[in-house]
Amino acid sequence: MNNTVEIKNLTKTFGKITALNNLSLNIERGKITGLIGADGAGKTTLLRTIIGLLVPDRGEISTLGFNPVTQKDKLTPFIGYMPQKFGLYEDLTVIENLTLYADLKNVSHDFDKMLEFTKLAPFQDRLAGALSGGMKQKLGLACTLLGSPEFILLDEPSVGVDPISRRDLMQMVREMINPETTVLWSTAYLDEAHSFDTAVVIDKGKVIYDGKPNNLGTTAQEFESKVIELMGGYKQEVSKIAENYIMLKDIKDCTVEADNLEKKYGSFYAVKNNSFCIRRGEIFGLLGPNGAGKSTSFKMMCGLAKPTGGTARIMGIDITKDPERARSNLGYMAQKFSLYGTLTVRENLEFFASAYGIKFKNRASKVQEIIEVFGLKDFADQKSEELPLGLKQRLSMACALIHNPPVLFLDEPTSGVDIITRHDFWNHITSLAKKGVTILVTTHFMDEAEYCDRISLFYNGETIALGTPRELKEKAGAQTMEETFITLIKESGGK
Ligand SMILES: Nc1ncnc2c1ncn2[C@@H]1O[C@H](COP(=O)(O)OP(=O)(O)OP(=O)(O)O)[C@@H](O)[C@H]1O
Ligand SMILES: [Mg+2]
Repeated sequence: MNNTVEIKNLTKTFGKITALNNLSLNIERGKITGLIGADGAGKTTLLRTIIGLLVPDRGEISTLGFNPVTQKDKLTPFIGYMPQKFGLYEDLTVIENLTLYADLKNVSHDFDKMLEFTKLAPFQDRLAGALSGGMKQKLGLACTLLGSPEFILLDEPSVGVDPISRRDLMQMVREMINPETTVLWSTAYLDEAHSFDTAVVIDKGKVIYDGKPNNLGTTAQEFESKVIELMGGYKQEVSKIAENYIMLKDIKDCTVEADNLEKKYGSFYAVKNNSFCIRRGEIFGLLGPNGAGKSTSFKMMCGLAKPTGGTARIMGIDITKDPERARSNLGYMAQKFSLYGTLTVRENLEFFASAYGIKFKNRASKVQEIIEVFGLKDFADQKSEELPLGLKQRLSMACALIHNPPVLFLDEPTSGVDIITRHDFWNHITSLAKKGVTILVTTHFMDEAEYCDRISLFYNGETIALGTPRELKEKAGAQTMEETFITLIKESGGK
């Protein structure tokens, strides 16, 4: 049998939403197939249906020769599945998680290669719950690959993984599998698609391309524009969010200021001597590898984590002394989805509108307006935990903006977001900055770094370079931001 998966006329609906629409597809054995598609295109539903976690409404499906609906028990031992939110044991250490998964799969405790690839060796005794977002992602992948399953399904494994490690991820998978292994890898990173053997593009529950990635374009750019075209192209709209802002003017100096900020866990410095001043209307990017200390900095600057040294000021208000007043000027989008999962999209927005003090009489219209701006209309009555990752991100951004804050903190707003929506997000971000909103943002997409006015390159808890994208490129003697990132990190001692 040459195909690991054979699907004919598969349909799966959730209430009014058709996630898979009469979809037919074969997935070849021994190949790495990339599954590419916009948020809500049906990627996760397809993966879950293939392994019998969801029952289709109609259609035929065969996975490794089994019917995943009626023979799920027989199929499961051959499957390695990494969902978007992988089930790590947060109270166990890195090494204990690996040991537990190895025991469950009955394989040896030989983790050296895994630890090397994931760069987790120095942190093997740290609790999984205390890892950064990207470090968790890498540990999840390592656990999935243990025992070399015959069919590996990875749901957006590179979300939140830094540009250096992202290169290693594909190599790690290639080295850990054998020639008969089939891999199905869903992604929102189009630049990754060139390294797949086969690329499958899905849109609105249907396959719109299935073939060699090279046929989509010979260069990464050409490829990218072809996929964008297949997905319906960029929207060219003015940002309605920014339109509603009154031009912010009064503050002249730093609107956001970090002053020798420090966070120590035991003898480990997550953040050390971090100082910067962000001016009104500036887009300030915090860039750095996984575990560099970006989220820790954000949390301290929002008053959600107590600094062990130094302080931060938002619009001149000391966050350690008057956290509530400082926070009222702030919209914060956390890296980890932190809204109320059991509330609907609309209810979450209503909750934030009232929490931020929007008057009752204005609330409903404000909520409706932001639902429209962020394209959430069709999902307004869905529970937020049921949304695809990219839509969760849209909702989180909408909640952060509902009270028109003068300062916006965005911790990886575009991780897991498709390329068209990413474009949209940045349209809002740059338009808001023009209205005088101060923005602190992190990203692992190096093309997005170019939109920042200034960048602080962060590594091992410290700023190793600070300047405009152009200044940093000159410093590194590099053409692209990706090269700049890699060069400057390596120069400062990173692998
Ligand atoms: N409670 C904790 N105890 C020990 N170490 C911690 C704790 N919380 C965070 N750390 C460590 O602090 C470091 C910085 O983590 P942080 O989440 O700030 O990284 P990050 O730059 O946001 O990375 P990513 O790009 O993966 O999101 C990591 O090594 C992390 O494991
Ligand atoms: Mg982070």
